[in-house]
Amino acid sequence: MNDSTKKAEGTIDYMALVNKLNELPEGWEEALETVKITNSVGDEVEVEKKAYDAYLKLKEDLEKNDGIYLELDSARRSVEAQQKIMDDFTEKYGADYAAKTVATPGFSEHHTGLALDLYFILDGKEVYYNEDLVQHPDVWKKIHAKLADYGFILRYLEGREYITGYCYEPWHIRYIDDVDIAKEIMTKDITFEEYLGQAKQTDVKIDLGKSEKYTEEQLNEAVIQLKCKFATFAGAELESIRYAGDDQINEDGEILFLMDFRGGDAGDTGDTVIEPGKENKDYQWWLKMNDDGGWEITNFGY
Ligand code: DAL
Ligand code: ZN
Repeated sequence: MNDSTKKAEGTIDYMALVNKLNELPEGWEEALETVKITNSVGDEVEVEKKAYDAYLKLKEDLEKNDGIYLELDSARRSVEAQQKIMDDFTEKYGADYAAKTVATPGFSEHHTGLALDLYFILDGKEVYYNEDLVQHPDVWKKIHAKLADYGFILRYLEGREYITGYCYEPWHIRYIDDVDIAKEIMTKDITFEEYLGQAKQTDVKIDLGKSEKYTEEQLNEAVIQLKCKFATFAGAELESIRYAGDDQINEDGEILFLMDFRGGDAGDTGDTVIEPGKENKDYQWWLKMNDDGGWEITNFGY
């Protein structure tokens, strides 16, 4: 149900990459044409026009053939709206958790209007919250299988946090307006960054070693945390991450991971501007567990 439309003044690039390293292109907002709808929980959602038309076709297909009723939780967000989400998450879960789940205002794909966060209705019941949505991998499998037919791709793949900079999000899809390219991306199971040649998937070796202090799950969470930060090292290729061991825990209770990677630029951390192709061995990442059981990166570098 459309209750309003916004006029366009130019054209948008449906293949634009917006991520931790690439902000919303200039002039986007002026060129963007959107529709606004109200979802099943009564929230207004704004979506780019063509993406919305494609979404309706995807929705119809899933309803007819799979009994899955899609809904839109969130699509286009203003920089101000993103800031509010960032502030709320930071207050609730801490800055490091926010960094792996919420984009910095200006750098969110949601600004494009082409990124859609889905939820669904199953057996007449809304499955809405992230923690509930992740309980339905079988449903996501059916949804993901049909994305490319309508010009969508899945954006934040499981295990590829070191490229995308974010945790796995089965609900976050991206419209690219090209079914052939979408099919190529989804069939090859690659990220948009890899398709665009902005990142390379490597065979990353993870070694959690043995710990008496932390569970495998906790150490895995720490790895995801630092992978999300690593995605901001422009051009870097990750090779391995290893837990340095309980005997390396320092007096402040910080744990150490060692990382090998090639090339890249650690940005404005003041630490390293790294030569392309150069091997970087035993790069250090220190993390500390906060009161909520989440990890905070306290230091990284040599
Ligand atoms: N959740 C995605 C990364 C965003 O905030 O744009
Ligand atoms: Zn999203």
